[in-house]
Amino acid sequence: MLLNLTILPGDGIGPEVTEQAVLVLQAIADAFGHQLQLQSKNIGGAALAAANDPLPADTIQACIASSAVLLGAVGSPAFDHYPNHLRPEAGLLRLRRELGAYANLRPAICFPALEDCSPLRADLVRGTDIMIVRELLGGLYFGEPRSIAGAPGSRVATNTMTYGEPAIERIARVAFDLAMKRRQKVLSVDKANVLECSRLWREVVTRCAKDYPSVQLSHMYVDSAAMSLVQRPKDFDVVLTENMFGDILSDQAGGVVGSLGLLASASIGGPVGVYEPVHGSAPDIAGKGIANPLGAVLSAALLLRHSFELEPEATCIESAVSAVLNQGYRTADLARAGQSPLSTSEMGRCVVAELKASSSSVAIA
Ligand code: IPM
Ligand code: MG
Repeated sequence: MLLNLTILPGDGIGPEVTEQAVLVLQAIADAFGHQLQLQSKNIGGAALAAANDPLPADTIQACIASSAVLLGAVGSPAFDHYPNHLRPEAGLLRLRRELGAYANLRPAICFPALEDCSPLRADLVRGTDIMIVRELLGGLYFGEPRSIAGAPGSRVATNTMTYGEPAIERIARVAFDLAMKRRQKVLSVDKANVLECSRLWREVVTRCAKDYPSVQLSHMYVDSAAMSLVQRPKDFDVVLTENMFGDILSDQAGGVVGSLGLLASASIGGPVGVYEPVHGSAPDIAGKGIANPLGAVLSAALLLRHSFELEPEATCIESAVSAVLNQGYRTADLARAGQSPLSTSEMGRCVVAELKASSSSVAIA
């Protein structure tokens, strides 16, 4: 199969982790007889520096012309004082919107080898396997009007949370469909005791649930869900929520399973999917070669699964990551006292070596 991808390394640690994910993709393509065709483009701060636009036209054109996009991270303190539409993050938001990527899947899994990396007790996190389904094109991120207006000293800032029934319904269906393939539980997270958006959300989700009689639907307010996520993470299966709540809860889930550096994501629903680690550009460690590439590597697995339906290849990457962790390899974010951390590229090499060893038996079949 031809794997025609656009690579958007982006800012901070983005290029470092993406490089490792690409090496892993190359190894899997070699092992399973696929052809990898890559082009790399700028986004975020890198694009602002080069072209004064966080999402230049040739970047979006390349993305639309390819089958999937692998992204590193965007964001850089150098652009903190820029107006909103000229911030690196604006490039990512426009990319999601232009590609129609309304469904953001963020799995948070506690790898058996990493039970002691969580700040929670091992018996609490053991077996945690959550799929956060975050609505990605609505809510406060895109709602109009939005502004900061008025005279200095008395300015007023406005953002708008807005959700229509079709937008709620389509993301709810993604969550229910995923739940059917998992433990058949959907927890819808909202703030229906305060927000109209959430009242509508709850009503539409409840209506959709009727088409999935085997799925057990429950609802929780976001504050209470945040507490339960740390008290009893393994009770969560599919978590369905709106854009901003999903942004917050997914970082929290990263903390629960040991490190945000492990979390992968898929932004799908439109013609071209975007795959990126949940972590940001981490400017404090950028360029040091110590970032954890596993979130990016696992995003590459999601890319194979969701954009190409290459399930064995995706599983092969996930198993290789698990095996490498079982063998005790750790990047700095995961290393405990007495463990010497691997660099970003050493961790990438470990995964590639493991893939080569394991796929030689699988791929031939
Ligand atoms: C994420 C990030 C982005 C978001 C930022 C970089 C715009 O935090 O993907 O979770 O808020 O969606
Ligand atoms: Mg986030």
